Amino acid sequence: MNEKKIAIAIDGPAAAGKSTVAKIVAEKLSYIYIDTGAMYRALTLKALNENIELDNESAVFHLLLHTEIQLRQTNEGQIVLLDGTDVTKEIRFQDVTTKVSYVAKHASVRTEMVKRQQDLAINRGVVMDGRDIGTHVLPDAEVKIFLVASVEERAKRRYEENVKKGIASSMEVLRKEIEERDRIDSSREASPLIKARDAIEVDTTSLTITQVAELILQEVNISRLNNNI
Ligand code: DC
Repeated sequence: MNEKKIAIAIDGPAAAGKSTVAKIVAEKLSYIYIDTGAMYRALTLKALNENIELDNESAVFHLLLHTEIQLRQTNEGQIVLLDGTDVTKEIRFQDVTTKVSYVAKHASVRTEMVKRQQDLAINRGVVMDGRDIGTHVLPDAEVKIFLVASVEERAKRRYEENVKKGIASSMEVLRKEIEERDRIDSSREASPLIKARDAIEVDTTSLTITQVAELILQEVNISRLNNNI
């Protein structure tokens, strides 16, 4: 079997299940999973800790230039290191979640992040999830998937995830937060969340995680056949 590796881009709105399926697909193919949202979250965490005004683009960009963000694969999954410190848990805190879209909307910040993400994917063999992977980070990805699901379903999934983790939350608050992030991510000027022309849209509302992962793996096989790899 030919071992040439491809790149898989998975985009879509908040809480559409991107990271869960991306991890499964990466594991099945022995590829690297890259969570680009974690990079924006890590920068947001640092900006909050340093009291940087999130609307001040040049301050946030300057901060990024002095920030090292590493995504390290371990047996327990991917960990996120911010200037060498493990912040895997902190970047999921509510404060970061509600503010990250304000950091991610700055064009200069995005240009630098995209550069870093392209470097991570230089050897292919990656499953990368985010909002602009198919459109800007890996426009030549062999497989592009755009995951969608109703807001209600996404809020429900987040709520159930929180219950499992023992985190108290309200479905209504989660729904509002998801809607607000969708609004900012989709309406920003710099590479807004849109489906790439050649991406396959998958509505996951009534599909299981396994079904979505299977569907993506089928697309990978089709792409390999079409590209003769
Ligand atoms: O996937 P996530 O929820 O962890 O992403 C956090 C935020 O980062 C999301 O609201 C938008 C932003 N983001 C982005 O603008 N571009 C990406 N490639 C990934 C995330």
